[in-house]
Amino acid sequence: MKLAIFGATGRIGGHLLNWAVDAGHDVHVLARSPQALRPRDGLTVTGGDVLDPAAVAAVISGADAVLSAVGPRIRDNFRKTELLAPAAANIIDGMHKTGAHRLIAVSAAAAFIPEDPDKSWIVKQIQQRIFGRTFADVRQMERVVKDSDLDWTLVRPTRLVSDPGKGEYRVRADFPPPGGGKIARADVAHFIDTALTSASYIRESPALAY
Ligand SMILES: NC(=O)c1ccc[n+]([C@@H]2O[C@H](COP(=O)([O-])OP(=O)(O)OC[C@H]3O[C@@H](n4cnc5c(N)ncnc54)[C@H](OP(=O)(O)O)[C@@H]3O)[C@@H](O)[C@H]2O)c1
Repeated sequence: MKLAIFGATGRIGGHLLNWAVDAGHDVHVLARSPQALRPRDGLTVTGGDVLDPAAVAAVISGADAVLSAVGPRIRDNFRKTELLAPAAANIIDGMHKTGAHRLIAVSAAAAFIPEDPDKSWIVKQIQQRIFGRTFADVRQMERVVKDSDLDWTLVRPTRLVSDPGKGEYRVRADFPPPGGGKIARADVAHFIDTALTSASYIRESPALAY
């Protein structure tokens, strides 16, 4: 399969990249620091920013599916708070230009706490006060993706940790499974790999937790 991956220099994205290359896929990534990725057979790296529509479309060109694990770096937060929504818009435009239909993007379960029936009023207040601006970008990103005609999956992890993956975790539609508070980045990548290869969770927003 030909895959375009965004966020491949990141932690979830790094797991995705390793899986995709090891599985023999033909992988094209866009990276702001291409030198951060070691050359490998089957990997093409293009330098650029996901906020640049032309760079995004060039990387998607020829891809069967697109994976995005883009996320805001702390150092960028001082410059710009909106990343995910404009990045998603660029990815969708690029997919429309090139005919790719399958998109799997990392979202965030915490951004949907206001609608989560299992979360208390106080948790909802605190989360929104602290992370309101970040979550607004996540929610807008989901709206942009859901308004598209693509075969999308919006993966909503709970709190990310960098522990080794277990290969086992709980998945629930829209909101985290009861009591589930964290998930390893490696297992988020495992889920994305499973959803892609089994063509499952299409037009769904599964939430992940142990
Ligand atoms: N932290 C949590 O507990 C939590 C919970 C649920 C969901 N999430 C979401 O999980 C996602 C990924 O998490 P992670 O830990 O894997 O993230 P990460 O390690 O910080 O990686 C972020 C990736 O996005 C890329 N990126 C950022 N801005 C970019 C730009 N303008 N152009 C091109 N690439 C850009 C980074 O590239 P550079 O290497 O160039 O910076 C990097 O590859 C994020 O969307 C986050 O919101 C986080």
